[in-house]
Amino acid sequence: MEYKFADRICGLKPSAIREIFKYAADPEVVSLSAGNPAPDAFPAEALEKISARLMKENPTLALQYSITEGYAPLRDALGTYMAKYNIGKEFDSLIVTSGAQQVMDLTTKALVNYGDEIICEAPSFIGSLNTFRSYGAKLLGVPMEEDGMDMEALEETLKTHDKVRFIYTIPTFQNPSGITMSLEKRRRLYELAKEYGVLILEDNPYGELRYKGEDLPTIKSFDTDGIVIYAGSFSKIISPGMRVGWCVAPEEIIQKLTVCKQGSDVHTNIWSQVLCHEFMTKYDFEGHLQYLRDLYSKKAEFTMGLLREHLSDTITYGDIDGGLFIWCTLPEDVDMPQFCLDAVKNKVCVVPGTAFLTDESATSHNFRINFSTPTNEQLEKGIRILGELSKKL
Ligand SMILES: Cc1ncc(COP(=O)(O)O)c(C=O)c1O
Repeated sequence: MEYKFADRICGLKPSAIREIFKYAADPEVVSLSAGNPAPDAFPAEALEKISARLMKENPTLALQYSITEGYAPLRDALGTYMAKYNIGKEFDSLIVTSGAQQVMDLTTKALVNYGDEIICEAPSFIGSLNTFRSYGAKLLGVPMEEDGMDMEALEETLKTHDKVRFIYTIPTFQNPSGITMSLEKRRRLYELAKEYGVLILEDNPYGELRYKGEDLPTIKSFDTDGIVIYAGSFSKIISPGMRVGWCVAPEEIIQKLTVCKQGSDVHTNIWSQVLCHEFMTKYDFEGHLQYLRDLYSKKAEFTMGLLREHLSDTITYGDIDGGLFIWCTLPEDVDMPQFCLDAVKNKVCVVPGTAFLTDESATSHNFRINFSTPTNEQLEKGIRILGELSKKL
């Protein structure tokens, strides 16, 4: 049988980095390539208690079909939580989603026609880029600077393209670059979107994981014009396996996302929603967030120490104030994919920067390291190997 796939799926190419991940399946390989929370980041004991009580006292709530917009008490709690960050104006509404990933999916499904354009940071989160691609969107990459998107390039892109549906940004502890957009650029981005009549999709899964410096306002908090769609997630602060995220956006957009979600998965896992709600409202959620910040701060410091000790000066990287990633830069004359391939053959896996580009055939001199998932022993081993390779460059 010759299978005929939809045009929008035919456009999706196998990733250029698959070769590297083939080697990464070897159990001896230290993976610095994931983006998962640390195994000791999960509030398992609290979730066990909530779950046991729920099954005993109100199993129907967790086991029955539920409503698409989300479990009402959780929506209320999230509304209150978001209000702390000045998110949610009178024209906004909130829907609970199956992770933040579903916000990208539903937003694209609701707003983007085949051939429409989406402006993305270059580099950006591969999961979102692939979602956008799967709807036949054309991705327009805007280079990142140390303090976020290059605003001149953004304006030029907006000036020269008339099918832009939204600008996708991860302003805080961006995946993969770890970069946080400055306040000035956040305001400029908002003004440009307003001026050119395009929406902003703000993805903020790492905002709570700041362990140094001052919090910056979200772009959504400036939204007096109903132009920002905000994606939040419990994945990095409770559990990614529970698949609970949320979206705050103007009511009219949320209504469309709701219809789209009905056709996707009916509703987000209600058992997980109840657990998130109880954990947020009846346990020490703030204390848990502080525990995570301490945990990752220690791990980040440990990793930075190893990088300073082992890597030669040929590899550069910025300091980090939060999030889960370190973005490393190789000299321009080094073949980055070959470096990553050599690394995995020597039993350490990092992610080549090209994986995160809107145009995978473009050149990148970067690779991403994740420090939250590996143990300290694995970090030591992996970074020692990277160090040996860096000295041969
Ligand atoms: C920037 C970014 N957005 C969205 C997601 C997806 O998160 P979720 O697990 O909430 O779907 C991730 C996951 O790593 C991410 O890094």
